[in-house]
Amino acid sequence: MSTSTFRAAVVRDPGGPDSIEIIDVPVREPGRGEVRVAVAAAAVNPVDLAVAAGLFHARGVIHQPDHTGLGWDFAGTVVATGPDVDLAVGTRVAGLVDGFDRDHGSYAEQLTVPVAKLAVVPDGLDLSTASTVPVNGLAAAGILDLLGDATPGADRLLVTGAAGAVGGYLAVLAADRGWRVTGLARPADEEFVRGLGAEFVTHAEPGWDAVADCAVFQERALALVRDGGTLVGVQPGNAPATERGITVRTVVAGPDSTRLDDLLGRVAAGELPARVHAAVPLDQVPDAHRAVAGGGVRGRYVIHP
Ligand SMILES: NC(=O)c1ccc[n+]([C@@H]2O[C@H](COP(=O)([O-])OP(=O)(O)OC[C@H]3O[C@@H](n4cnc5c(N)ncnc54)[C@H](OP(=O)(O)O)[C@@H]3O)[C@@H](O)[C@H]2O)c1
Repeated sequence: MSTSTFRAAVVRDPGGPDSIEIIDVPVREPGRGEVRVAVAAAAVNPVDLAVAAGLFHARGVIHQPDHTGLGWDFAGTVVATGPDVDLAVGTRVAGLVDGFDRDHGSYAEQLTVPVAKLAVVPDGLDLSTASTVPVNGLAAAGILDLLGDATPGADRLLVTGAAGAVGGYLAVLAADRGWRVTGLARPADEEFVRGLGAEFVTHAEPGWDAVADCAVFQERALALVRDGGTLVGVQPGNAPATERGITVRTVVAGPDSTRLDDLLGRVAAGELPARVHAAVPLDQVPDAHRAVAGGGVRGRYVIHP
């Protein structure tokens, strides 16, 4: 790497893992309210596979003339600061770059981002683990915003995909709001899900006051909600049509420094489950995407650029 460029994983003609390229891009100095971060770790999330596959290009959401940057979540160290920034060079931070239509992403040696999109990583929390928290922790918190507090007699919440990143955080956070949580996951996930303090099932019968559909069961999840209950999905713009008086919502995770600060603190304290499956270099992004696409991976692949 020269001092004026850095390496980044992008897609030009998205078509799955084989279309991912590592290119040199120019360093961008931080503007007002921004920092430049040397990325130590970038988590591989399902949304990244969808971007690389061209799903959002096909939906007309991405209009990049040359290349589209991959990756939302990151953790690293501040190496330069713009005006009106309180963070010192050397501060360890984690955050997310949200939105789809962008030429840059977190799968890169460097990232220039607004401080509003990140939080300081607490001492004692390693950067690989911290990089797995932002988008999925904020999604879980956003699902809880949509669910609200449980009420007496209407407090049974089913979390599908409870052994996944969003579902795992949600299973813990929902108990704080009075929900009695049951996690639906694969048979081998029983110990993990029960360790979150949730009940465990591999199949669910209908009748739940609320279902948080982190496994993207869609209509199958809707069928599990009681009449007049609540379904919260994770795919904005792709929610099942309501029926039987059910409230149907979808979450959109976005940057929130204050909330991310709290989530990172709770991960550092061991209260929230952040799991790293493996760390791989930038060159192996396509392999990591192939592995995640196969399913069954527990914990995140983390890119070490
Ligand atoms: N809207 C937003 O802002 C937002 C933000 C973050 C994430 N998301 C979305 O939320 C979803 C979950 O993300 P994630 O990171 O939590 O994914 P993840 O870690 O892959 O978790 C999904 C879990 O669901 C499980 N699952 C799938 N089918 C199942 C079945 N039939 N029975 C039991 N378990 C099953 C998976 O197990 P297997 O691996 O064994 O299949 C996996 O453990 C993704 O679609 C993601 O794109 C949305």
